[in-house]
Amino acid sequence: MAATTANLLKTIPIVLVLGGLYLLAEMMHAERETLRQAAVDLTPACNAKLQEYALRAGEHYRSPYLLKTTGRTRELRGYSDEDIRAIQRGCNIVDDMQGHKAKSGARERWNATRFSRSSHANCVHCHRGVGDRQDAAGNRLVGSSGLAASWVMADMYDRFTGLLLPYELRQMQCYINSSNGYKPNAADDLIRDVTAYSRFLAAALDLKIGYRYPEQGMDEVTAASTLRRGDDYVRGAHEYRKSCAPCHGPQGLGTVVAGRAVYPALAGPESFTLDSRMHFARINTVMPGFICRNMPLGREGTLDPQQCRDIAYYISTLPRPAGDRQSPLAAAWQQLMMTIMPRLTKYAESLGGNDAQQTAN
Ligand code: HEC
Ligand code: HEC
Repeated sequence: MAATTANLLKTIPIVLVLGGLYLLAEMMHAERETLRQAAVDLTPACNAKLQEYALRAGEHYRSPYLLKTTGRTRELRGYSDEDIRAIQRGCNIVDDMQGHKAKSGARERWNATRFSRSSHANCVHCHRGVGDRQDAAGNRLVGSSGLAASWVMADMYDRFTGLLLPYELRQMQCYINSSNGYKPNAADDLIRDVTAYSRFLAAALDLKIGYRYPEQGMDEVTAASTLRRGDDYVRGAHEYRKSCAPCHGPQGLGTVVAGRAVYPALAGPESFTLDSRMHFARINTVMPGFICRNMPLGREGTLDPQQCRDIAYYISTLPRPAGDRQSPLAAAWQQLMMTIMPRLTKYAESLGGNDAQQTAN
């Protein structure tokens, strides 16, 4: 009898813990279900974009972009209210992953923030123009990693990995390494929402599955496109101080005002990792391509290919999180460097180092 009671007493805590976890899971499922049903509070950029593309529920969809750019019109399958909420949430995640622009406390962006360690990372920093960057005339811009163009290339050959990567996996890579985070489940709401948004963009822009459009990816800058003098750290550091540091900071740590990244970090704990495709030492054509087409903000296209490569090289030498394919030793080293580098540099500056002079030159 005593033995049975003792056994019972031992099982009770286990049952309680498992029961508690079950209830917690139920609660989280219920919360997500409410979020799926809730009306979406769009960011200003998403509001403008989705209005411009006339997203509304109905049996058919006709793209105003197509009419405007080609004079033609095409009737496509329309969207249900549920589809529309998914597309809207997807746009919000790309434009404002951290929920900084949300009025109601970023509830639906919670889906995305829990997969990023960085408190600044945001898809739109790299996928410019909410994943659909255009000039005033509506021409889609090359080198902006357009999400519609990448959706129609989904499941196609990815030459960096040699795999046929589904769109879900491509997004996951961006959570893990470009946003310094964790791997979301392929069926997670946030992946489906961003996919829904990208599919909608492809429909609005009338892109065709399997076609390669120039705005897909980053418009890479290869060493062959330069005079082949080699990429240079000193030139890169100098150019960085002159053209980039005013916004991204002397250490590349970005400019943060009231907890929000006004100018995103290019190095340090809030930045992309060593395994991101943006990291020059991993893929040496993507970051220079981004710089040449997109930076310095407001003076895009003023740098030549060699300058973009020099700057990208310099940025790659700054300490940053390790990423998912590095050894624990590499991770510890980066962590150490991220902690001491800013202090060391500050100390060197306080000794009257030549930083200030270099900027003045
Ligand atoms: C630090 C910059 C950066 C951030 C932040 C970032 N990405 Fe990316 N993303 C990239 C780069 C670089 C590629 C690879 C482009 C290529 O392969 O040419 C990429 C590729 C992708 C692709 C596949 C594109 C293609 O054409 O194959 C998707 C989808 C994607 N990102 C979604 C996201 C989402 C969603 C987020 C936000 C959670 C995000 N990215 C955040 C830089 C970034
Ligand atoms: C006037 C301010 C400004 C200057 C100067 C500037 N940037 Fe940026 N940069 C930004 C802003 C703002 C973004 C985010 C873009 C967006 O959200 O559309 C950004 C984004 C980036 C990104 C992608 C974001 C990420 O998380 O990695 C890189 C890389 C970058 N800049 C590099 C550079 C380099 C290199 C230079 C110098 C050649 C430079 N920038 C000069 C403002 C600036």
